[in-house]
Amino acid sequence: MQERNKPLHDLGTPAPRDAIERVSLEIDGRQVEVGAGTSIMRAAAMLGIGVPRLCATDNLDAFGSCRMCLVEIEGRKGLPASCTTPAEQGMVVHTGSAQLDKIRRNVLELYISDHPLDCVSCPANGDCELQDVAVELGVEHSRYGMQGRNHQHLARDESNPYFTFDPALCIVCSRCVRACEEIQGTFALSVDGRGFESRISAGQMESFMDSECVSCGACVNACPTAALEDKSVIEMGLPQKSTVTTCAYCGVGCAFEVGTRGDEVVRMTPYKDGQANAGHACVKGRFAFGYTTHRDRITKPMIRDTIDEPWREVSWERAIEFTARRFREIQAKYGRDSIGGITSSRCSNEETYLVQKLVRAGFGNNNVDTCARVCHSPTGYGLKTTLGESAGTQAFDSVAKADVVMLIGANPTDAHPVFASRLKRRLREGAKLIVVDPRRTELVDGPHVRATHHLQLRPGSNVAFVNAMAHVIVTGGLADEAYIRERCDIAAWERWSDFVRAQENSPEYLQAVMGVPADELRAAARLYAKAGNAAIYYGLGVTEHSQGSTAVMGIANLAMATGNLGREGVGVNPLRGQNNVQGSCDMGSFPHELPGYRHISDAQVRTQFENEWRVKLQAEPGLRIPNMLDAAVGGDFKGLYCQGEDIAQSDPNTQHVEAALESLECLVVQDIFLNETARFAHVFLPGSTFLEKNGTFTNAERRISPVRKVLPPRSGKEDWQITVDLANAMGYPMDYTHPSEIMDEIARLTPTFSGVNYAKLDRLGSIQWPCNDAAPEGTPTMHVGGFVRGKGYFAITGFVPTSERSTRRYPLLLTTGRILSQYNVGAQTRRTKNTAWADQDLLEIHPQDAEDRGISSGDWVGIASRAGETVLRAVVTERVQPGVVYTTFHFPLTGANVVTTENSDWATNCPEYKVTAVQATRVTQPSEWQKQQKAFNARQRAFLQKARNPDA
Ligand code: SF4
Ligand code: SF4
Ligand code: SF4
Ligand code: FES
Repeated sequence: MQERNKPLHDLGTPAPRDAIERVSLEIDGRQVEVGAGTSIMRAAAMLGIGVPRLCATDNLDAFGSCRMCLVEIEGRKGLPASCTTPAEQGMVVHTGSAQLDKIRRNVLELYISDHPLDCVSCPANGDCELQDVAVELGVEHSRYGMQGRNHQHLARDESNPYFTFDPALCIVCSRCVRACEEIQGTFALSVDGRGFESRISAGQMESFMDSECVSCGACVNACPTAALEDKSVIEMGLPQKSTVTTCAYCGVGCAFEVGTRGDEVVRMTPYKDGQANAGHACVKGRFAFGYTTHRDRITKPMIRDTIDEPWREVSWERAIEFTARRFREIQAKYGRDSIGGITSSRCSNEETYLVQKLVRAGFGNNNVDTCARVCHSPTGYGLKTTLGESAGTQAFDSVAKADVVMLIGANPTDAHPVFASRLKRRLREGAKLIVVDPRRTELVDGPHVRATHHLQLRPGSNVAFVNAMAHVIVTGGLADEAYIRERCDIAAWERWSDFVRAQENSPEYLQAVMGVPADELRAAARLYAKAGNAAIYYGLGVTEHSQGSTAVMGIANLAMATGNLGREGVGVNPLRGQNNVQGSCDMGSFPHELPGYRHISDAQVRTQFENEWRVKLQAEPGLRIPNMLDAAVGGDFKGLYCQGEDIAQSDPNTQHVEAALESLECLVVQDIFLNETARFAHVFLPGSTFLEKNGTFTNAERRISPVRKVLPPRSGKEDWQITVDLANAMGYPMDYTHPSEIMDEIARLTPTFSGVNYAKLDRLGSIQWPCNDAAPEGTPTMHVGGFVRGKGYFAITGFVPTSERSTRRYPLLLTTGRILSQYNVGAQTRRTKNTAWADQDLLEIHPQDAEDRGISSGDWVGIASRAGETVLRAVVTERVQPGVVYTTFHFPLTGANVVTTENSDWATNCPEYKVTAVQATRVTQPSEWQKQQKAFNARQRAFLQKARNPDA
């Protein structure tokens, strides 16, 4: 029996929910006080007493199947299982005795009779709970032998690219089944058969790949043996070292333990104490790290004079000198404002901060922008205007207290999977869901989850929707007048409530525009307004519209009008796309804002930065990305430093973007791969992956989390070092020696970050900003007691239909999004085994539209808009409504953005990706653009080969 002085890391069973009453009991002669409902196993573990167990673990509800954890309770007959028996006041428990040992040994020997202890040759040797219990009980073999019936002949399931299932090693503890249900919420696994015939089954006795499994890995983490095991562990052995870091994919910001052997990553397992993910992950973060060592990685700097000639590999010094010289020459010839920079939401806060500093202080202009321009810039504008801060209001934990969740234009099961699992858990507990989405996403009707309302809006009608909701709330007397009087600007409220009362904002008036029956919308509005706690989560389906900022303000209005801001379980929560979208915005990446969202025209703020940076700053905002591209086409913008972004694939109207890039005299791309943008570059600076550098990412909850270096950078430099070198070569001195110094500078200059430093991040694990004297350990919930701007502001949100409407020529509306296995432009996930799930973009089309056009699933379909045309394969599905088609933008040769237009949000220029009028036709060959791309790509690949092998 283990006796330890501190609580065990796995306490065996979860803490009871909302335990108020305390009970005190004695375990093995020691007193412990716990919340009522705590299991004896957990109470013992809190004393450091480990009761042997196989089927229990503290992130799953106790099941009581293995009978290893029996204990004796004085005055009670029998030997109850400690995992399923709650602690009671005055109990006296003994966890070890000769009788208990005998029973446990016997049970274990029965297990071993169908699970030989061939531990030495097992990949989990040293990381197996069955082995641990056997060692603890001193059991080396089974008296029952292996001669009887057993499961040793059963075949392994190798179908999943990342993990195996070996039924011969399975002890049918059902931890995997419960993990899939309770943690992931997919219900892909079950125990098939009874007694000896019991077997773990994926789907209907299918392979894992053929089942509903989404490869999140929760079952693999939960398995106490090697029955479910990472293939990388089988191939490479168990990790020797583990480092905690943060996922570099989506805005959930999951914490991981990276297990390494020497300079090789063996596996990434979700970190149990991770505050954003609490030990869960999705297929991307958990398994898709293979890109970091992919052969396409570029690790040497390259330069060339024009894009029509081969690359030349050069030293870092030469590449930096070449870049600085060309940028200076361009500025001398075309003026100070003729160059600029783009920061990336895939890079760290520190890297992003440095790029905007280089542009403002080193280039001497404010021509800096970020990829958030094309995703969540309307969130920044809309929430700042209404609430006073450009960020979501809650921690992810908050959803566990929501009674009603309204999900608008977001598909978290694909795009924010770990948050989706938390949401699904809350829905299984009884919270109600309203889905507002043109597509029938999984949450509308998924396993054990069903939306009470699916408001299947026509693309482009979000603002009509928020106004109709507001109309029902205000005219139905459902507004929280006391909250509004206390918290909000009353004049603005009165103006706004008069506005939404108008007949043209009624659901009946707007139902034709929205495509949603008025009755259903009225019911949804009542459900939202009458909930005790109602929370809104929204995504790019809200922001990427010509009225993106208006819709965000409309959402904030709904939350204020119903008193759903400023406590747990409520709020307005943008689900951020990339890992550091929040951070790149916080760090002053927009041309008009210095770090902390302070306007560049504010002389007092500017002086603060000028004193720290020892340089005079321009007071006028610089160019946004679309302005830079337009100016490039117009001949006024000539040089661009693009760090970690691939605008040639991610930005709208690809042909316009390509024309702009082609016109530049010096395009510098800093990335890990020669991406689509880099085909137009003159300098390639090889960047480092998240595993190769130190820094921080900030997720959708404003949570700043550490990124820790696990491997040396393959190119020899972390990205922040490259920016420092470039600044010095441009004549603007930077002398940081570690990213922690950059964070210290950010903290000095940014009130919401003033309490942030690396030592505190190490101590707390992560910090949600604002973190300052008023909130030294951060702020999980914003606007408690009052709004950041003072009084909440109800902005008038008049609905203006987009000019992008279906016509006779372009009768369908195209909307775009993501799928689970791929990520953004796919640069990372396309270079992993995630392609087993998706290796191309597909066009979803409704059966009616498909039939009208003679299109079947699998056919090549041309989609054409006024911007361009591309060809991809069709999937005929009712996930989309008639008149709407949908695709993703993960694969460069599909070029979904060849079709999207430069229509954009009125306030922020965020592109209207979600609405493009198109025609779809069955075709037999690629589009002209695709043919040209193929030829151009082949040429650029040859130029790269030349750099790698100059003598060939
Ligand atoms: S696969 Fe692992 S977790 Fe699942 S029942 Fe078997 S031993 Fe338990
Ligand atoms: S990998 Fe995830 S989804 Fe698949 S069976 Fe395991 S827990 Fe379920
Ligand atoms: S949910 Fe997002 S942050 Fe978490 S593992 Fe998946 S991709 Fe990474
Ligand atoms: S751990 Fe309690 S019965 Fe398995």
